[in-house]
Amino acid sequence: MVAKPLRGVLIGCGFFSDNHLNAWTRMDGVSLTGVCDLDAAKARSAAARFGIAGSYTEAAAMLDAEQPDFVDIATTVSSHRTLVELACAHAKTVICQKPFAETMADGTAMVAAAERAGANLIVHENFRWQRAFTAMKALVDEGRLGRIHFGRFSFRHGYDNYVNQPYLAEIERFTIMDVGLHLFDLARHFFGEVETLACTIQRLNPIVRGEDAFTTLMRHEGGATSVCDCSFYSKRDPDPFPQTVAEIEGDKGSLILHQDYTLTLHTSGGAQTIDAAPAVPEWGAAPWHGVQDSVIRFQAHAAEVARGGAQPQPSGADNLKTLALALAAYDAAEAGTTIRMADWRETPS
Ligand SMILES: NC(=O)c1ccc[n+]([C@@H]2O[C@H](COP(=O)([O-])OP(=O)(O)OC[C@H]3O[C@@H](n4cnc5c(N)ncnc54)[C@H](O)[C@@H]3O)[C@@H](O)[C@H]2O)c1
Repeated sequence: MVAKPLRGVLIGCGFFSDNHLNAWTRMDGVSLTGVCDLDAAKARSAAARFGIAGSYTEAAAMLDAEQPDFVDIATTVSSHRTLVELACAHAKTVICQKPFAETMADGTAMVAAAERAGANLIVHENFRWQRAFTAMKALVDEGRLGRIHFGRFSFRHGYDNYVNQPYLAEIERFTIMDVGLHLFDLARHFFGEVETLACTIQRLNPIVRGEDAFTTLMRHEGGATSVCDCSFYSKRDPDPFPQTVAEIEGDKGSLILHQDYTLTLHTSGGAQTIDAAPAVPEWGAAPWHGVQDSVIRFQAHAAEVARGGAQPQPSGADNLKTLALALAAYDAAEAGTTIRMADWRETPS
């Protein structure tokens, strides 16, 4: 017997949503029945381009009319709490883009709303779903590196992001809340919870309001040290955007992710090269394909969660710990101190 398709809707038809829409509308067993944007022209255009029947300007009206199995929220962060709380009252699975929240209070309220409603709340944290990182995680989990003692995740480029995402130049809390969250999610995914965190931030490009570079140093409960660093003002040729490079070391070996998506596994038996390049989707193009492929993989996982076949990776509750690291990173940078996460509390704004 063929299972009934999952019925989904998407809220927020801006720059990044084309990736969501391309992935959903090509996924077997999923039917997107409605899209919504405050800007009617954007909603209409998305519906027309992707063959979706319903186009709305009010999320509540769309949810009442469509009765979806899942809601995909692809708006910017200031709308997340209202939309997640609304969506949890209407659907059993709710997906929210990162940054999940700007404050722990908002994040905690969304997690509580999902728990009250018995809904799955998944954060669109697609970096851990990138092909290279799922390959690295499998090797680490197989024990190929032994006991892990060090890792670095690095995202440095000079690409002009401000053309597609002009809001990035305006926000006061920029790269930690934009890319830092992805890198901290990776650090927790690979090395576990964080005991202590130190951070420096830099504002390099005069056109931006917030920090466009940061470096964090974290000690994890299992004993590993990690470094996450990011810059949107690095001169490199070829420019690595939008790739993350990484290295992980354990007592039996090291694993290095290079800028060309190859992995080198160094063990006492020698060095082995592994091709971890993502496919370019039929609707995609380099250099975006690493991101596009990860959206396909993340959303396939979210559909599996909606069918009851998997636990959210990551859930809203899990992502609160990543958010705490991002907010604590600003506090650590401002105070010039190392923060013990068990003692850290959000400074009320
Ligand atoms: N995971 C990733 O790799 C990745 C990459 C880029 C962007 N993002 C995230 O995706 C989110 C969206 O980014 P973007 O660049 O597409 O932003 P955008 O500003 O281009 O689009 C957001 C859209 O949401 C709409 N919107 C806002 N509030 C709404 C509401 N209440 N109801 C209906 N529509 C509403 C806006 O009108 C706008 O069209 C951001 O949080 C960003 O950080 C994630």
